[in-house]
Amino acid sequence: MTDKPARTLRSRAWFDNPDNIDMTALYLERYLNFGLSLEELRSGKPIIGIAQTGSDLSPCNRHHLVLAERVREGIREAGGIALEFPVHPIQETGKRPTAGLDRNLAYLGLVEAIYGYPLDGVVLTTGCDKTTPALLMAAATVNLPAIALSVGPMLNGWHKGERTGSGTIVWQARQMLAAGEIDDQGFIKLVASSAPSTGYCNTMGTATTMNSLAEALGMMLPGSAAIPAPYRDRQEVAWRTGKRIVDMVHEDLKPSDILTREAFLNAIVVNSAIGGSTNAPIHLAAIARHVGAELALDDWQTHGHKVPLLVNLQPAGEYLGEDYYRAGGVPAVVAQLMRHGLIYEGVMTVNGRTMGENCRDVPIEDERVIRPFEQPLVEEAGFIVLRGNLFDAAVMKTSVIGPEFRERYLSNPDDPNAFEGPAVVFDGPEDYHHRIDDPATGITADTLMFMRGAGPIGYPGAAEVVNMRPPAYLIREGVHALPCIGDGRQSGTSASPSILNASPEAAAGGALALIRSGDRVRMDLNAGTVNVLVSDEELAERRRALEEAGGFAYPASQTPWQAMQRAVVGQLNTGAILEGAEQFQRIAQT
Ligand code: FES
Ligand code: MG
Repeated sequence: MTDKPARTLRSRAWFDNPDNIDMTALYLERYLNFGLSLEELRSGKPIIGIAQTGSDLSPCNRHHLVLAERVREGIREAGGIALEFPVHPIQETGKRPTAGLDRNLAYLGLVEAIYGYPLDGVVLTTGCDKTTPALLMAAATVNLPAIALSVGPMLNGWHKGERTGSGTIVWQARQMLAAGEIDDQGFIKLVASSAPSTGYCNTMGTATTMNSLAEALGMMLPGSAAIPAPYRDRQEVAWRTGKRIVDMVHEDLKPSDILTREAFLNAIVVNSAIGGSTNAPIHLAAIARHVGAELALDDWQTHGHKVPLLVNLQPAGEYLGEDYYRAGGVPAVVAQLMRHGLIYEGVMTVNGRTMGENCRDVPIEDERVIRPFEQPLVEEAGFIVLRGNLFDAAVMKTSVIGPEFRERYLSNPDDPNAFEGPAVVFDGPEDYHHRIDDPATGITADTLMFMRGAGPIGYPGAAEVVNMRPPAYLIREGVHALPCIGDGRQSGTSASPSILNASPEAAAGGALALIRSGDRVRMDLNAGTVNVLVSDEELAERRRALEEAGGFAYPASQTPWQAMQRAVVGQLNTGAILEGAEQFQRIAQT
């Protein structure tokens, strides 16, 4: 427990302010109307917000509507008062054109809610991909005591005795459909088998990744990220989370005490060991910038690349969420990493203890699912950071490079990690869907496929489209993956070894706008480079021509928010935040 002197609660400014009796009366009158008593509101009890992300529009997080009851009971038990309020919905699979747009919108809305209302602390109900970073970003900006509660993954999916993982099965089913092995009905049935209960994606997609990292950052009770949504343990930890936030308010334990540079470096290491999503660098950069912690994209390679893959979850491995929890979840992984000096053990966490105290000696309960450090699934399984004459920064998840891909593209005896071939370029996802199976597009097994116009400005919010499947005619010949490079994102549930999050994007003046189908491209994974083999003079000439033609074209905004976000959003390598928002830090204290 942290030892801090008793202090005046922030909510007193609303409910117990003798200097402004007029406003105090008005505040009291309306919150009394909600059903609270004057005695409660003037009791000096901490007022705890429950930032509710569950709704009918957000099935992944919907179970939080149930869990919130247990959170309230925990808050009450510890002597607090609970006030639940909605967060702007973010459903990864339901939002058009992309849920990427909503992370920053939910962030903005939540900052206003927790700053502007009488709250002393807040429970962040995390889950589906962007809900976790959106809520952590807001908590970082406001800097009120905050604790995250994951909704937990769905139960394992099954089809004909095999585990079917959410998202991951879609990529497989698409290939089966393209190869004529299943029809439309079979496609839907196979995909739906992966989602047997309430909760978020049961694979190591962005949701499991970001909730694991919230725990690894110290923002969630230890051992709680991986508990499946329907398990009774999930109800219990909801109650514990409610109890704990009240104590955190008394201790004044804030996000800025927890979200230090060391905590982010721990999260990078854990991300490699769990086989986490390529969305993690974007979201961690965003959280770090809002809390004012130093973190660069290169930290992912420096601190994460050499870390082995220990967690055997789809898409990099075979198991799913229930197995991950039973095998020990995040603490078992952290304990393995700690034994090899890869974790900053002294960082503080929400339970008032350090990461080292929480995780030391936590055993692995099933070594098929979480491997001991000495027997990893993949050595050096972290991301590599690439650059070259097409972009300043991009990432690649090396843990998903499969044997077929390695043999086809990375087995030149003279130069084993390099590949050279002609580019085929798509301008946005619609162009790709329209032309991918057309033989006139000219894709062969030697092609590098490019996706541009898919970044935060080009496709507002940045689309998860860089992991493109090869044309059906190549899949039938046994080519299941081509090198893909682009300025968009990729779903965490995809096993594609794409080069993505390329920054700056074509729509922001990046050189990806200059590449043409037929140009030869060289990717060298040892050197960490991707270069188009076109002279600087030719590229300069193309840039002049593009500028004369009015610049890189992208679809018009469809909503006010699309237009507003496009005007201020940053690039993926620096978190794609609303640039300027990071100047507002720790605002609850000012
Ligand atoms: Fe919500 Fe995967 S779609 S967690
Ligand atoms: Mg996603």
